[in-house]
Amino acid sequence: MRLGIIGAGNIGQAVARMALGGGHDVMVSNSRGPDTLQAFVRDTGALAGAPKQAADFGDMVLVAVPLSQVGGIPAARLAGKIVVDANNYYPERDGAIPDLDAHRTTTSEYVAARLPGVRLVKAFNAILAIDLNARDAVLPSGVRRALPFAGNDIQAKAAVGRLIDQFGFDAFDAGALADSWRFERAKPAYCIPLDRRDLEQALATADRTTGLPEGSWRRTT
Ligand SMILES: NC(=O)c1ccc[n+]([C@@H]2O[C@H](COP(=O)([O-])OP(=O)(O)OC[C@H]3O[C@@H](n4cnc5c(N)ncnc54)[C@H](OP(=O)(O)O)[C@@H]3O)[C@@H](O)[C@H]2O)c1
Repeated sequence: MRLGIIGAGNIGQAVARMALGGGHDVMVSNSRGPDTLQAFVRDTGALAGAPKQAADFGDMVLVAVPLSQVGGIPAARLAGKIVVDANNYYPERDGAIPDLDAHRTTTSEYVAARLPGVRLVKAFNAILAIDLNARDAVLPSGVRRALPFAGNDIQAKAAVGRLIDQFGFDAFDAGALADSWRFERAKPAYCIPLDRRDLEQALATADRTTGLPEGSWRRTT
């Protein structure tokens, strides 16, 4: 598969490394241009291009930019493609987004509304970039860590589920984009290493209007 990546920061680079390890072709892009990605290219064997090139390159395209920047990515080039949305809403970074603050929509529906015609799947938003590697795909119990994903396009969702499984994690179908608030920032399933059973429980017990203490999901070691 050819994976285009728009936003080659923490999570974009982590997904790129895993995809390259799985034998996929990867093109990364960022806002400053491919020259700024040459060290990563040398280190990993990824290609680098402009966001438009990464959009054209990918059979599947990961969007991993600050949520506030989603309006700046080449939406028209992505129409019809499987787009993986790894984005989260951090109001202090992204500015207040009233529809999200009032729980009238989910972050993935917010992104999908700005990328008309894409086959959007929410994934890789609920894992810290430093945990997205083969070693951390297996919990200390020896069981695979489960990762939630959601989408409205069944085939697109299946393709992303296969990629998550290929990365060594246990892909957990968490429903449609409208359900994806259950693994947004500060929900019990957000960035906490859980096996399939515990993830299912964390998703089920999530409450739409309450969240964990800010930053409690960040690793200290
Ligand atoms: N960090 C994590 O552990 C993690 C985990 C899961 C999900 N997320 C979510 O994933 C998203 C990215 O987080 P991150 O930590 O990877 O951020 P980051 O390290 O700041 O990287 C953001 C990337 O987006 C690029 N970018 C910004 N505007 C762009 C545009 N208009 N076109 C193309 N590229 C653009 C930046 O380019 P430049 O480098 O040129 O500025 C940078 O490469 C956020 O929504 C975040 O909440 C993060």
